[in-house]
Amino acid sequence: MQPLDDGLSRRRFCKAAVAVGGASALSACLGRFRDEPVPTGDPDAKPARQHAWREHIRHDDHGNSLLPEHQLLLYVDLDADGPPGDDARATVDEALSTLDRAYEWSNDGLVFSVAYSRSYFDRFDRPLPEDLDLPEPRALSGFETPTFDTQDAVVHLASDNADVVLEAEAGLTGDRETINGEDVTARLTDAVTVDSRRTGFVGAGLPAKHQDAEGIPDGNPVPEESPLFMGFKAGFVGNQATEDSVTLDSGPFAGGTTKAVANLRQRLGDWYGEQDHREQVMEMFSPGHAEDGLVEGIGANLGDDSKVDQYVDDIVDQAREFGRVGHAQKAARGNRDEDGNVRLLRRHFESTDDIGSDQQVASLHFPTLQRGISEFEAVREAMNGTDITAETPAVRQRVNNGILEYIFVRRRGYFLVPPRRHRSLPTPRPE
Ligand code: HEM
Repeated sequence: MQPLDDGLSRRRFCKAAVAVGGASALSACLGRFRDEPVPTGDPDAKPARQHAWREHIRHDDHGNSLLPEHQLLLYVDLDADGPPGDDARATVDEALSTLDRAYEWSNDGLVFSVAYSRSYFDRFDRPLPEDLDLPEPRALSGFETPTFDTQDAVVHLASDNADVVLEAEAGLTGDRETINGEDVTARLTDAVTVDSRRTGFVGAGLPAKHQDAEGIPDGNPVPEESPLFMGFKAGFVGNQATEDSVTLDSGPFAGGTTKAVANLRQRLGDWYGEQDHREQVMEMFSPGHAEDGLVEGIGANLGDDSKVDQYVDDIVDQAREFGRVGHAQKAARGNRDEDGNVRLLRRHFESTDDIGSDQQVASLHFPTLQRGISEFEAVREAMNGTDITAETPAVRQRVNNGILEYIFVRRRGYFLVPPRRHRSLPTPRPE
């Protein structure tokens, strides 16, 4: 048995186990590494919002959220045609309540959500409220042809304990009688079928340990301390929307939010092979960040804010001078409301999934939360930088244009995350 304080080995092993899944991976993970009890849950202590994670997970010294290290997305379809009946609703409710009882709502236990697509709501005769901004997914640039995720729902499980993620999954979809000591009284898969299972990880050390994936060049270029494959830290609290600001404040789904989830393939050969750190900083943040020497290493020295706002207004002048434009400076242009507040809450994590195959490829699951999906679409369009390519010959659709040379959108889906009280197969107008 592995020494219990060997955290890195534990994380590596259990990350592999999450990716493999199934009962054998779970028992291997549990058997080898169960060091201290996982805290059980009090259903009455769960937050009213399914997306209330921030106060229940770890933060770094600057107050930036440290997302749970192991994450799983289960895309599911209802077994029956038409609108779901009360039996299916009760089954889903019981299956989710089992997770409530089994795990504390925290990074040591489990945070999770279930979110529903436009296609799901189209099963009903009554429409969603008109002001609910939840379209069907679409391509957002002329240079991407994603497959659209229009399954009925996506269940998102996240924990710092890989074995918790696997065990919770087994409670929802497997044949376990108990999870974390609590009886499994109903299974999600009594009402739905899993169409697609996607896994991922995030946090210092994990990308470096899993860089033997297609898309990452030889020579172990991913820095050990980086939480992401591209070698930088993301998600500074100053550049993120708050949970409050992405929460719907009226209508039957008040307390909920919307969720866009993309899957992107990463090809980092030229990122690591042809760009030095200064050039990477220009393309990831802005040329101004590089000129002013703001980013050391992975950028943890930036503290609680990427400081990108000062490099947005003269973005075209910078592009002309340096022949490049930064990813963050482009995205930021679309990411402020009229009062200057950040619109999107990004919660992305890395993966080696190649959806539909057994290959290991560097990829990224990219969930964002916002009040309406059109806010996500506006940011993504700002990130395309099409206006800048028109102004600056050196910046082309995919060259010198932020990180667009290295990322390729493969899937996209849009969902509504209802408040917890309506999380189980809601009608379009609950209550
Ligand atoms: C491999 C893929 C990606 C990586 C490694 C990455 C990395 C980063 C980094 C390092 C920053 C600056 C620090 C921060 O504010 O978090 C940033 C900012 C940002 N990125 Fe990405 N990103 C990726 C993909 C995307 C995609 C697909 C979108 C789509 C909308 C996006 C939207 C944003 C936004 C909105 C900001 C914040 C800009 C601001 O308002 O300050 N990113 N990203």
